[in-house]
Amino acid sequence: MTETIGVETVDDAMADSTLADGGADAMADGGADGAVGAGGFGAAITAAYSDALAEVYDEVYPSTPDLADVGEFLLTLARPGADVLELGVGTGRVALPLADQGFHVHGVESSEGMLARLAAKDPQGRITPVRGDFAGMDLGRRFDVVLAPFNVLCCAMAVDEQIALMHAIARHTASDGHVVIETFDPSDYHVQKKNEVTTYPIGARGAMIESVGVLPASQNMMLQNTLFLDGDAPKSATTVMRYLWPSELDLLGAIAGLELTARYAGWREQPFDGGDSRKMCVSVFRPLA
Ligand SMILES: C[S@@+](CC[C@H](N)C(=O)[O-])C[C@H]1O[C@@H](n2cnc3c(N)ncnc32)[C@H](O)[C@@H]1O
Repeated sequence: MTETIGVETVDDAMADSTLADGGADAMADGGADGAVGAGGFGAAITAAYSDALAEVYDEVYPSTPDLADVGEFLLTLARPGADVLELGVGTGRVALPLADQGFHVHGVESSEGMLARLAAKDPQGRITPVRGDFAGMDLGRRFDVVLAPFNVLCCAMAVDEQIALMHAIARHTASDGHVVIETFDPSDYHVQKKNEVTTYPIGARGAMIESVGVLPASQNMMLQNTLFLDGDAPKSATTVMRYLWPSELDLLGAIAGLELTARYAGWREQPFDGGDSRKMCVSVFRPLA
């Protein structure tokens, strides 16, 4: 059974909000009663994008991040049986291996399509799904670990949304708990002059072409993905992300009452020196006393 904490469709969000305010009014309304995050235009855009890609997601990203390593890493911070909140749980690509390792995982997700895939992969209901916008959420409880893997934080497409998300992370973290955030180093993207186009094979069924353009002034990436699947008409989906440097994560953490305790260049605790452009960065925070 999926709990729903509120997420709007793109049409609803358009009615509530405008592109110019980035959905901030709708998000503020959603958070005003402290209970749900109704989301705004940004959350609705990402949900529609994820709905379009849900059917191919696991084939496009079979091993990024290295899924077994995430669980091993969390075991350095928490015991088996600990309560984990995963933001943007998607199809359960990360959450299901964590459940195999004994963690109790709640997964917040705005996309119905992603949650339908998760449900199909999890007939025993080992993951507790929550449908809604993570930036405004208030689940009324705290977790041993709050996990934001695979650039989930960058799905909040504006600074105010990222601040709201970091506050949401902080209010769901136990006083002796940990926050684990995985992001990429965006240095190469930031100076990219032309759209970068990548092709991802989708088994024997076809391919996905992804085009990424960058707006360096706002640190936004515009993603356009087109699916070419055997027997289907081509299908496109678009979203916006906001990339950020690891040092900005520290600022967001400080704003939300979290302090950095460790940073690595991957889930195997590789040393982080900041020089690995586009490589993933794993940051660990704890609540300030
Ligand atoms: C990059 S994917 C990662 C999915 C999953 N963690 C994994 O690694 O396979 C980001 C996920 O976050 C979800 N998402 C994006 N913005 C969201 C929001 N505001 N609230 C809830 N989920 C969101 C997307 O629908 C998508 O499933």
